[in-house]
Amino acid sequence: MGKTHAAVTGVFGWVPEDKLTNFDLEKLVDTNDEWIRSRTGIEERRILRTPGWATSDMCAEAVKGLLEKTGTKPGEIDLLIVATVTGDMVFPDTANTVCDKVGAKNAFGFDLGAACSGFLFALSTGAQFVQAGTYKKVVVVGADMMSSIIDYTDRNTCVIFGDGAGAVLLEPCKDGNGVVDFVLRGDGAGRELLHMKAGGSLHPASNETVARREHYAWQDGKRVFVQAVKGMTGACDELMRRNHLTKEDVAWVVPHQANMRIITSVAEHLGFPMEKITVNIQKYGNTTAGTLPLCLWEYENQFKKGDNIILTAFGGGFTWGALLLKWAY
Ligand code: UT7
Repeated sequence: MGKTHAAVTGVFGWVPEDKLTNFDLEKLVDTNDEWIRSRTGIEERRILRTPGWATSDMCAEAVKGLLEKTGTKPGEIDLLIVATVTGDMVFPDTANTVCDKVGAKNAFGFDLGAACSGFLFALSTGAQFVQAGTYKKVVVVGADMMSSIIDYTDRNTCVIFGDGAGAVLLEPCKDGNGVVDFVLRGDGAGRELLHMKAGGSLHPASNETVARREHYAWQDGKRVFVQAVKGMTGACDELMRRNHLTKEDVAWVVPHQANMRIITSVAEHLGFPMEKITVNIQKYGNTTAGTLPLCLWEYENQFKKGDNIILTAFGGGFTWGALLLKWAY
């Protein structure tokens, strides 16, 4: 009997129907379609506008689709982790709400931050419970309703972000497929360059924080860009080296979708042709914790059993990393 790994046995994504195109943004800020396309690769993003809906509803849609697709009953889920920085409320955790909305009566759940690296951190966390034999069915969701924290007068952020959710099911597997290894990193000094300043214990909500527009995501885009390329390239490199993988051994790289120029730069540094890189940024923009599972969802039909897939991300914190997943179906 081989070692137990946590295999991804299903993936499902959900995005809102409403689109915010580059032409719509031209009416909101001083920008234009040509600039956004050439500097970011984004053409449109999805925005959640259903009254009364929030991140938990996007998660619930993704999880319901996942359960149906994998023939899993809600009561069979042991643990549900939601990676997000736009939870419905400061507390309770959105994962608890999602469990309630999908009828996961026997599960416990918690949220995990880590911004754009959230799904990567949550996937590796969930995998540990499965690999250790503690749980048999773990659902990992990456979801963000970025439109709830974006300043649509700030062209440095509003052109990039969108809303969306994706979910995977993790189950034990003994044939060598599943989560094999991961390299995860953080550097808290990066908090100065990418954050949402107010609403936490440091700057609780007040008239002043609202007037200063501190309840919106803010970034020093240029400096984040440089660190993102460096972080993802370094993590992938280390992961491949210690697993004795050449570029030829890797079937796919699934990078966080923040900016097309970051994606191509990482691919170039690592020497991968773009045919091996999953890209859907043109349709959804940067959905923060949603990008990786949404990519898995969209490329699922092209993956083959046993494929070495490297997921990599970089985000607020700073947080970053890379994870080696052997596709199980
Ligand atoms: O998910 C993890 C977190 N985020 C990221 O990874 C994002 C990383 N950063 C980025 O994606 C990019 O830095 C941005 C898309 C935010 C900005 O692109 P950039 O190529 O770094 O632009 P820039 O700030 O260097 O500005 C270049 C020029 C400037 O004009 P001048 O000074 O050269 O005349 C800006 O004023 O482009 C101008 N500009 C814009 N023009 C039209 C900046 N933003 C815009 C805009 N529309 N939205």
